[in-house]
Amino acid sequence: MRNLFSLEGRTALVTGGSRGIGRMIAAGFIAHGARVYISSRKAEACEAAAKELAAGGGVCIALPVDVSTVAGAKALAAALGAREKKLDILVNNAGAAWLEPFDAFSEKGWDKVMDLNVKSPFFLTQALHGLLRAAASPERPAKVINIVSIDGLSVNPQETYSYAASKAALTHLTRRMALKLAEENIIVSAIAPGAFASDMNVVARDMPGEVAKRVPSGRVGEGEDMAGAAIYLASRAGDYVVGATVVVDGGLSLVRAA
Ligand SMILES: NC(=O)c1ccc[n+]([C@@H]2O[C@H](COP(=O)([O-])OP(=O)(O)OC[C@H]3O[C@@H](n4cnc5c(N)ncnc54)[C@H](OP(=O)(O)O)[C@@H]3O)[C@@H](O)[C@H]2O)c1
Repeated sequence: MRNLFSLEGRTALVTGGSRGIGRMIAAGFIAHGARVYISSRKAEACEAAAKELAAGGGVCIALPVDVSTVAGAKALAAALGAREKKLDILVNNAGAAWLEPFDAFSEKGWDKVMDLNVKSPFFLTQALHGLLRAAASPERPAKVINIVSIDGLSVNPQETYSYAASKAALTHLTRRMALKLAEENIIVSAIAPGAFASDMNVVARDMPGEVAKRVPSGRVGEGEDMAGAAIYLASRAGDYVVGATVVVDGGLSLVRAA
């Protein structure tokens, strides 16, 4: 039981690991012993984040790639494959949001969000299938963790139509992929965050006190809240959590429309 949450000896890839929620997860994985690759588009920011994350003594390596296309997903898988023979944990975290009034909502606002939030987790997992299979065994399954959102489970009144639909889609895609990949000891699950300070959630970042008033727990999410859920799913502790979505929102979805 003592090492139930250990990630010693495991290799992880966190997309969008340069900042925000991805960085919170990468920091947690490193602290629990994993060798962590982070990816994002801006190479300089990705390299700088990897350096800072490794500063405490762990291993963190930057692989800057745009994962919003199939070619990008394949390029990231190839870059990882050039360095590693197996991948124990993939976190599909990179995501985008789009806010526009209903009558003006553009096709670009659909394509950008669906490409990155729905198609990219699928195609990146497909591109990394061989490396995940190489890590997977009945005793130590490989893990794929998709970062969804409470906006895909309950209704956020903001006009983020494609985002809400993309996160509901990824929540269900998690179940469908879990059914397929469990055959090969690759366990797929998801985390649905509530309000966490980031460049995407500038309201939680810049006005945490205001957001906190709406959250039953009385605060926005912290790095440890996110890292805790990700470590649980990634480690042996989460081996039996298949296709499920862990909600980490301080109760925010309970006070919203279903
Ligand atoms: N923050 C919240 O309250 C909240 C709540 C629910 C769900 N989420 C979900 O959590 C995930 C992370 O969000 P966040 O709030 O941490 O956002 P964020 O601060 O904007 O971070 C997004 C990360 O993804 C990277 N990224 C964006 N587009 C990319 C692309 N095409 N290819 C590769 N990397 C890309 C960014 O780096 P570059 O810009 O350099 O590419 C960055 O590292 C998203 O899936 C989001 O939907 C967040």
